[in-house]
Amino acid sequence: MTGLPFSLVCALSYTLIQNGATFVSVDKIPNPRDGSPALLIQDDGGGMDSEAMRRCMSFGFSDKNSKLAIGQYGNGFKTSSMRLGADAIVFSRHLNNGILTQSIGLLSYTFLMQTQLDRIVVPMVNYEYNTSTSSLDVLNGKEHFMANLELLLRWSPYSSEADLLKQFQDMGSYGTKVIVYNLWFNDEGITELDFDTDPKDIRIAWDVKKISTIPTRKRIQEEHIAKTFRYSLRVYLSILYLRLPKTFQIILRGQAVKPHSIADDLKLVEFIKYTPQCAGPVEELFVTIGFLKEAPHVNIHGFNVYHKHRLILPFWQVVRYQHSRGRGVVGIMQADFVEPTHDKQDFEKTSLFQKLEARLKSMTWEYWDTHFKLIGYRAEDKTRTRVTKPLPSLQKSLGYHNKRKTDEPIDLQKRKKHASEEYVTGLGFGQNKQITTTPADEVVNPETINLMQENKKLHTECLELEKRGEELNSKVVELRSKIEEAQNEYNQLLAELQSLDVKEE
Ligand SMILES: *[C@@H]1O[C@H](CO)[C@@H](O)[C@H](O)[C@H]1NC(C)=O
Repeated sequence: MTGLPFSLVCALSYTLIQNGATFVSVDKIPNPRDGSPALLIQDDGGGMDSEAMRRCMSFGFSDKNSKLAIGQYGNGFKTSSMRLGADAIVFSRHLNNGILTQSIGLLSYTFLMQTQLDRIVVPMVNYEYNTSTSSLDVLNGKEHFMANLELLLRWSPYSSEADLLKQFQDMGSYGTKVIVYNLWFNDEGITELDFDTDPKDIRIAWDVKKISTIPTRKRIQEEHIAKTFRYSLRVYLSILYLRLPKTFQIILRGQAVKPHSIADDLKLVEFIKYTPQCAGPVEELFVTIGFLKEAPHVNIHGFNVYHKHRLILPFWQVVRYQHSRGRGVVGIMQADFVEPTHDKQDFEKTSLFQKLEARLKSMTWEYWDTHFKLIGYRAEDKTRTRVTKPLPSLQKSLGYHNKRKTDEPIDLQKRKKHASEEYVTGLGFGQNKQITTTPADEVVNPETINLMQENKKLHTECLELEKRGEELNSKVVELRSKIEEAQNEYNQLLAELQSLDVKEE
């Protein structure tokens, strides 16, 4: 499980990111009131008008109409902000049909606790820019405005209206800014989010201490991304999205987060076809599976399961290995056919999901059994750890496939003869057994195949270029020594010539 605060930061960012945003920025700022750390999350998306803002901030309080109240920002705002800190203030600038509005809202647990009101009050003020006077007009009536402003100045980190309005200055034409302050402390009396250990990161306090006590021998393992994502927000964000639009950036503490592809950490990679066992038309998909490059020196395994490009299960351990079977095996897949839970930290435990789990389990073992020797495990590791197969009836209910029959590698060269051209086009995969499939999955997505083929071609080209580079390098060395030789010869001849000149005189 990821450190909970991270998933909340991400949920909050996710809630914030709106159509058209080019970035979401997560940072620490000092609370102007007392200098304590506060969490800032900001985007440059379309922002919210006063109505959208009201819906966002009161979602979950007015449950009777919650269906209607779910706005773009509704889900997750209250839960994630209030779990991170006691108080949150939201600034949003919105532009619609040439009308620019600015809204400020406050969701303050401190305020609600201390005033013990019998209802939930979420103070909000709204402004509209008046183009003829070039100034801000107050919306929703002056009296209402003054009462709300007073509450904002009393309970927010800003003690004057000017200070509040200053928060819009770095916002451009639209965008939203959430500041969570009075962050919760952990049992040791420090904030759960650690801003100090790495000034370019946000960490979870408790894990950082643990790692410094680990012997160097085990560092490879402990410093692996599979471990660090649990306490480093930068690492977590780097694997959180399988694919982000090129124009979009996640900025953490002023520095863009570099996306990281876990697939690049693997060796002996295979793509194994999986067809979800659901009724109706299903999309075939491929599971990328391989050994971590550090194998056999790391004790890490599991699948990274993405849903609509967002990571739901990081390094999900589908097998419990006895001895070593499965050790070092890591997979990546995108599973849009199963539904994530509301908090996006797991999948709903449907039978579809259980079938997927069972298949990933058998896949891990099959992969291990055919590859473990290649990375230096001894054969006895396997025999010793061989797990007995369940009875056939059990196999069926667990979603097992009969391995021999179903998972034979397709010889795509041969397949080409009977498969129609539109599905499989000339491939060079046969001898490498890079694709395995089940009979139910006979049709291989031509685009995927093309991409893999292209990938392989580029890889070969790359190797060739590297080789060529090496050849050229040795040529350079050779030529250098020839130049040197020639230079020596020249010097010698010159010396001889000079001595001849002397004689002539
Ligand atoms: C802008 O301000 C002027 C002067 O106060 C007012 O008459 C006008 O109605 C305002 N315009 C809008 C669009 O509110």
